[in-house]
Amino acid sequence: MARPKIALIGAGQIGGTLAHLAAIKELGDIVLFDIAEGTPQGKALDIAQSGPSEGFDAVMKGANDYADIAGADVCIVTAGVARKPGMSRDDLLGINLKVMKSVGEGIAKHAPNAFVICITNPLDAMVWALREFSGMPHNKIVGMAGVLDSARFRHFLSVEFNCSMRDVTAFVLGGHGDTMVPLARYSTVGGIPLPDLVEMGWTTQDKLDAIIQRTRDGGAEIVGLLKTGSAFYAPATSAIEMAEAYLKDQKRMLPCAAYCDGELGVKGMYVGVPTIIGAGGIERIADIKMNAAEQAMFDKSVAAVQGLVAACKEIDPSLA
Ligand code: APR
Repeated sequence: MARPKIALIGAGQIGGTLAHLAAIKELGDIVLFDIAEGTPQGKALDIAQSGPSEGFDAVMKGANDYADIAGADVCIVTAGVARKPGMSRDDLLGINLKVMKSVGEGIAKHAPNAFVICITNPLDAMVWALREFSGMPHNKIVGMAGVLDSARFRHFLSVEFNCSMRDVTAFVLGGHGDTMVPLARYSTVGGIPLPDLVEMGWTTQDKLDAIIQRTRDGGAEIVGLLKTGSAFYAPATSAIEMAEAYLKDQKRMLPCAAYCDGELGVKGMYVGVPTIIGAGGIERIADIKMNAAEQAMFDKSVAAVQGLVAACKEIDPSLA
């Protein structure tokens, strides 16, 4: 059987890391696409030359023409710019919205059956715009945020409890940004919910609150340290986890920015919710019940995403 084809739209920091991870995990043959000439070709060649040591056979190709992504099974989108000092959120929105238009049209024309994972920020608005511009089915276009936010939460919790990250499960809902909603009640260590661990004296509510805030600020903390860029290792790993769930029909339950049609009280927009990813793309959304405090946080997060979508419609009236 032919290997699956994975197209990476954007060959920057995350794109290059995605290519390397996909090759090492032998998920398929890889096309790195970018508007910058030479960058995808150079990264493809560099990664291909790690094949003999790693022992993978994936074919790596760099491209500047959308025709090269033809028939891709998975597309992962990182094309765009990251927010730079002095740039407003609206400036960023305007620039990346234009990028989503060209990417959405390119994917729809050349890889209309692909499962598409968007990483470009501001995530919840960009994945919505990408879906609108491509016209592809909602269940095949999804945003990567919750897996990363949950991974950050799980990492911080494992340090606090001095236990394996594998035994920490965590649950983060809502938009990808300051208003994301980490749900302590649904987050566990070996099945023990976090509020119980507070009662058991394993941690304090203050420490837990600080960890939740650090999770919310997870991206900004790394930008502050790197100074010239944003996180790329963990974002790439998170998207690869989602791509693998689709390609191998794993039916993983992963928090993703998915299109809600009434689930969790959200209609007609993308927001972070618990989903099942398998060969059908987003196969199911878990319509969980929240308590009043959680619902209030979630509503605030949904309103923030609605604001971004409204700004997109103002910038590009064809989306209205
Ligand atoms: N089509 C294709 N590629 C594009 C386009 C376009 N229209 N516009 C820009 N690019 C490419 C750039 O040439 C660059 O190589 O997108 C790439 C982005 O790479 P980086 O700047 O290194 O950004 P990265 O760290 O990979 O993050 C990408 O993911 O997490 C988000 O906020 C982050 O939006 C950003 C995105």
